[in-house]
Amino acid sequence: MDCFHHHGHEIALVLIGGVNYYTGQAFDMKAITKKAHKYGCLVGFDLAHGAGNLHLKLHDWGVDFAAWCGYKYLNGGPGAPSGVFIHERHLGKSDIPRFEGWWGHDKSTRFQMHDKFVPTATAEAWQLSNPPIFSMASLLASLEIFHEAGIESLRKKSEKLTSYLELLLKSELKDHITIITPVSVRNRGCQLSIRLKNPISNIIDILHKKGAVCDLRDPDVLRVAPVPLYNSFDDCHQFVHILKEILNGS
Ligand SMILES: Cc1ncc(COP(=O)(O)O)c(C=O)c1O
Repeated sequence: MDCFHHHGHEIALVLIGGVNYYTGQAFDMKAITKKAHKYGCLVGFDLAHGAGNLHLKLHDWGVDFAAWCGYKYLNGGPGAPSGVFIHERHLGKSDIPRFEGWWGHDKSTRFQMHDKFVPTATAEAWQLSNPPIFSMASLLASLEIFHEAGIESLRKKSEKLTSYLELLLKSELKDHITIITPVSVRNRGCQLSIRLKNPISNIIDILHKKGAVCDLRDPDVLRVAPVPLYNSFDDCHQFVHILKEILNGS
């Protein structure tokens, strides 16, 4: 955070991923926002890997804005609509430089066709056009399940699930891998990023054939994310067993 001390007054906008897509590191968004605001910077977070993963309190943390996709942890399916958060202190302003579309116009006068844009007094002011209804339906179905389960309970299970996976990986595969995700649960979400000491080029195909779904960032980092909504402790156990078989060449 020392960069603020040296450069804070030159920075207009702090824009980073709340959870890094590669390492899985979760940043202290509350502290970053507080510090950045001290120097007059606006703060926005890319929450592609944070939404549905962490317990976010964007309003309370004072974050200026955030955006995320609906197809990762939120399970909306490919092409699902994205989400946006705008802090209420920025709502209703007509002088914000913004990419404006007719769907963001105040609903009561939208069809009066005046030549001046009147923003909806909510984050909807940033909508450009009609949302895709069928994709919204699958996203809504998922969000209802999130709502029923509760993000606090999901996060509690997630911390245990990922810690269990970490424990198994460290005890079973320590000669083959290094975990590059932070060790502290406060500094990560579901994901563990596993660096392979001896990368295998087609490892993803082999994992998929054996029933394990994860991702490889070339050349050597596997991203594995047990999610609390539908993954079990047994899934973690099976994954480590499968990975061990592959890395041992059997
Ligand atoms: C960190 C991060 N930001 C943004 C995106 C892309 O989001 P969208 O598909 O909504 O453009 C991704 C997708 O993988 C991502 O990992």
